[in-house]
Amino acid sequence: MNRPESLAPVTAAPAQIIPVEAYVSEDYARAERDRLWRKCWLQAGRLEDIPHPGDYITYDILDDTVLILRQQDGSVAAFRNVCSHRGRRLVDTPAGQRNARGHAARFTCGFHAWVFEIDGACSHVPGEADWGGALCDSVTRLGKVACDDWGGFVWINLDPGAGPLRAWLEPVARMLDPFQLQNMRPRWRKWTRFDCNWKVALEAFDETYHIAGTHPEFMAFGEYAGWAQRQGLHSHIGYDAGDEVQENRAKLRLGAGDPRISTAEMQKYTWEGVNTNTTQTLVDVAQRLPVDLPEGTPAAEVLRYWLDTAKAIDAARGVHWPEVDPAHVAASGTAWQIFPNQQIGHAVNNMLCYQARPCGTDPDTCYFEVAVYELWPEGEAPETEWEYADPADFPHVLRQDFSNMAAVQQGMKAAGYPGNIPNPKSEGAVISLHRSLAQYMGTGAPRPLATRP
Ligand code: FES
Ligand SMILES: [Fe+2]
Repeated sequence: MNRPESLAPVTAAPAQIIPVEAYVSEDYARAERDRLWRKCWLQAGRLEDIPHPGDYITYDILDDTVLILRQQDGSVAAFRNVCSHRGRRLVDTPAGQRNARGHAARFTCGFHAWVFEIDGACSHVPGEADWGGALCDSVTRLGKVACDDWGGFVWINLDPGAGPLRAWLEPVARMLDPFQLQNMRPRWRKWTRFDCNWKVALEAFDETYHIAGTHPEFMAFGEYAGWAQRQGLHSHIGYDAGDEVQENRAKLRLGAGDPRISTAEMQKYTWEGVNTNTTQTLVDVAQRLPVDLPEGTPAAEVLRYWLDTAKAIDAARGVHWPEVDPAHVAASGTAWQIFPNQQIGHAVNNMLCYQARPCGTDPDTCYFEVAVYELWPEGEAPETEWEYADPADFPHVLRQDFSNMAAVQQGMKAAGYPGNIPNPKSEGAVISLHRSLAQYMGTGAPRPLATRP
């Protein structure tokens, strides 16, 4: 069993100012390639996308392109997606896609037809004798890239000296292991482009401080006072519970007013307005709460009934929520920011993942991905692919978030703008990200916010 008490406690950090260099500087964006992207473990896809030997996906990050392949023995290996002959990218990204996904018995380079097996070995070189015997395996095989999996995700590391993934991820891995994220499958997953730096995009989703300003209609459902805590290189966020922990937590989840009605309304609104962080079962059961429970039912009881009923309905259709100690659920918070560019909003029966990455070395653009997962009955998960969507075609709550992206990016460039001053409590994940970034980039560390005279 995990020991949440061994986590760093939630602490109030002093106010900080973050210089805007990390968001707007072209030099900084170029330096990220060598100091950041080639040094970190990066989430590159899902294991279920490559179930059989020869199944592959690719992952691109700035100048680097990685080919991730299921091996004959069931393991997963990653290679530089670059032909050893004259450097042609081996597997092309289909037009309009963010990566390649497919199956191959072997790969033939499109330039001079060198052939590579799924274990990276080169098995055919036209005119090999012309090299006079100089072409040994170590010369011709695809370059190896560190690769491992956790949570059903494939992770790669371009650093030849990369340490173990598990050590990199802690304490995220042990805190999220009980949620069995590896058993979830996507309900939908979309990617898009923003006119902002990748950090601006991620930071729009790692705090709840923006809810009143960006999503005012959610205020009808309750309070969203949040906390954030740095954990190693990473951080996590959650909602305040206060002294009356159970009752307050229930109220926070269920909203203000009659908890039966606010739960029904909030679930319906969430399902229709953003289609994340819940499931059809939870939404359906929530709609029945005003009928199933008498008026005046305490919030904690409404919460218990709602979750227990949904859990039983799911179990009857073969969807089994993992058992997670309530103390562990509380300690884990609602979402983890995995350095540098991944966020997992976790729950026992669903998760919401965001990833952002640069689009070339222009600091003003990025790719952004949203993936919503849940548990499905065995064999009934839908087949999904990563789909490109215009920002205007996302659910409207996400469009509200998206509407800030370019405006933040442009605003930070104004002459004399001194830097960002995040809320030390609820926007601590922003401060944490820049602390970790500064460790890798050697610049841009948050500084204590001096009181103005
Ligand atoms: S570059 Fe690949 S075969 Fe020549
Ligand atoms: Fe938001």
